[in-house]
Amino acid sequence: MSSSTTPVLPFAQTLATISRLPRIGIVCGSGLSTLVSSLKNVVQLPYSQLQGFGESTVVGQKSMLAFGLMGKDNVPVVAMLGRFHPYEGHKPIVVTYGIRIMKRLGVKDVIITNAAGSLTPDIPVGTIVVIRDHLALPNLTGMNPSFGPLMSQEYARFIPLGDAYSPRLRRLAFLASHYLKFDSSALAEGTYAWVAGPAYETPAEGRFLRDAGAHVVGMSTIPEVVAAREEKLEVMVLSLVTNTVVIPDTYRSIKAEVEAELAGQHVELPSMETASHEEVLETGRQKAEVMRSLVERIVELVPAN
Ligand code: 6GU
Repeated sequence: MSSSTTPVLPFAQTLATISRLPRIGIVCGSGLSTLVSSLKNVVQLPYSQLQGFGESTVVGQKSMLAFGLMGKDNVPVVAMLGRFHPYEGHKPIVVTYGIRIMKRLGVKDVIITNAAGSLTPDIPVGTIVVIRDHLALPNLTGMNPSFGPLMSQEYARFIPLGDAYSPRLRRLAFLASHYLKFDSSALAEGTYAWVAGPAYETPAEGRFLRDAGAHVVGMSTIPEVVAAREEKLEVMVLSLVTNTVVIPDTYRSIKAEVEAELAGQHVELPSMETASHEEVLETGRQKAEVMRSLVERIVELVPAN
């Protein structure tokens, strides 16, 4: 639906406009906001009109909440088009606010998408990784976004995360992929390493994360997962691999090369590959349609499962 025909209303009016409260919440990562084209009866609400929301500042991300109906059975969903990251300077309360709103609207299941870098050649660019576990470096180093007084007596002080990634929802991802006739290699399973960013990993950091058991790395999602588990929502995370983390297992010795140069030989300095946001956005654009159709098919399967 084009934006000119999409009504934009304040929150209370929006809720009065939508016919059914959302059952499923979706968070759209970098380049994945085209998901909105799957929605019928869409009502969009810019974050700027929502008290408590921040403004998403990342290129490639919109800043809207979108309500609508998805799939052949018209499942009511709410989607965050664009999210907030701690590296933008947003406080944890802002980063997780959308999840809190979803819970209060009656959402039961959340599907969180993101763009991520691959740490292993087994998971090439373009793969969608169904996340089954995570490694949250900030959480392990005293920078957990859940630090602070409990927001409600209902919340557990110590949030269990052993079952954070719903087997029920993950099963639906693979069923959806089968029904869509995706190649078996289109979807993988793996562990997401959350780093604070905004710098991409050095080769040593990439190697460290890989050796610690992570398959992909990114700068988002985990604060939302933790908040969703605190809210007793079921969670699925889909990471689109937009680029690979370059991890040379051997380094050419610059010292030896300079010695050769000084001995009169011609040497060329090694060219170094590295990650870029342009690459992340480009793969996001190319694969947005695959992610959109997968999420749509999963949403169709959720109510009966
Ligand atoms: Cl290579 N690293 C991190 N930290 N986040 C990413 C990424 C890489 N690619 C997409 N998001």
